[in-house]
Amino acid sequence: MTDADNASTAKAGGHPSGDVRFRILEATMKRHRYQGDALIEVLHTAQEAFGYLEPDLLLYIAHSLSVPPSRVFGVATFYHFFALKPQGEHTCVVCMGTACYVNGAAEILEAVEEAAGTKAGQTSDDGKLSVMTARCLGACGVAPAVVFDGSVAGKQDADTTIDTLKGLLTYEPAGVT
Ligand code: FES
Repeated sequence: MTDADNASTAKAGGHPSGDVRFRILEATMKRHRYQGDALIEVLHTAQEAFGYLEPDLLLYIAHSLSVPPSRVFGVATFYHFFALKPQGEHTCVVCMGTACYVNGAAEILEAVEEAAGTKAGQTSDDGKLSVMTARCLGACGVAPAVVFDGSVAGKQDADTTIDTLKGLLTYEPAGVT
């Protein structure tokens, strides 16, 4: 797929991956009519939805807003509040948006933090797991939602989340029995 195809796919309101988090991103970009001067707000939205800004995501934003990738990378690296990659080997993003929150996201986050022995926004001491939160992943219909290494899982609870983490990690996180 060419850059132009990617851009037009973005502007058509979809992403080839089918990742629901792109809907949130699309809604923000559309609200700003895909104007390049909305870059910082779009990057904020992307980070809230994805937890961090990986290179492919930055390129997607650059194409969608018709902004040179160099500028997008420049802005993303200039501001300390943007994270370009998770520090941990694995990532767990717990959605704390309204739909997820009222369906038990706080208990899920608490269980994940306890299992990892760290707080949201940080990485476990052994560097295995970064725990992050998002405001809405665009998967409210299957709330509460959690993203494990980039894959969105719906209808989660503390037990299913910890089970998935156990499978994800090659060890038993501290605190998980
Ligand atoms: S509030 Fe969690 S997916 Fe929307």
